[in-house]
Amino acid sequence: MSKNISEIIVERRSIKQVDETPIAREVINEILEKAAYAPFHSKIEPWHVAVLSTEAEKRRLVEAIVASMERMQGEPLTRERRDQIRSGNERKIVAPPYTLIVTTDIIGSGKKDFEAIAATSAFIQNIQLLAWEVGIGVLWRTNNFIFDPDLVTDLGLDGQQIVGCLQMTKVSEVPDAKSRRSLSEWVKNLDE
Ligand SMILES: Cc1cc2nc3c(=O)[nH]c(=O)nc-3n(C[C@H](O)[C@H](O)[C@H](O)COP(=O)(O)O)c2cc1C
Repeated sequence: MSKNISEIIVERRSIKQVDETPIAREVINEILEKAAYAPFHSKIEPWHVAVLSTEAEKRRLVEAIVASMERMQGEPLTRERRDQIRSGNERKIVAPPYTLIVTTDIIGSGKKDFEAIAATSAFIQNIQLLAWEVGIGVLWRTNNFIFDPDLVTDLGLDGQQIVGCLQMTKVSEVPDAKSRRSLSEWVKNLDE
């Protein structure tokens, strides 16, 4: 019997461990189509998704990250450091069957941009929950490179802010839940 939404919300975990078992593209498309029922407060949905499934697409992101880190350092990286960055990101980006770059339109207006990022975050959480429902684990990453406008340009995503890079992989092992604070620690009545 399929799980109800409360069970999926409580049982979902971020999945770091990569399982290289292929996942059909139709499954990803179905998750995205349903996730797009997230709320949004703009004329059209503010999110965009770049799906990286081929080795070439994933390596393009890895190379953009290497270039971004070089820019951040302000001087050329040693060959050893480049290889180190490549191998770390190969594990995170090339090995999983899919990496999704989820971006949102940014127009330079505080309120509208805030709403776009909030709506896109709701969209990402929908992806995480829908994926979990079909045995796919997601890891939502927000590494420093997502704030590098040149990396966004390198990837042909001008005018957008990356809200997350999502690693998607079959769930082979479910990690323990991260503990949550009890309600009394973060809920109060306004007149308390
Ligand atoms: C906005 C956001 C950014 C995140 N960025 C990262 C990240 O860069 N690297 C990472 O390992 N996990 C990242 N995570 C996953 C969190 O570490 C994870 O959600 C948290 O530990 C709670 O675990 P759970 O998702 O299994 O409940 C991010 C989560 C969110 C919501």
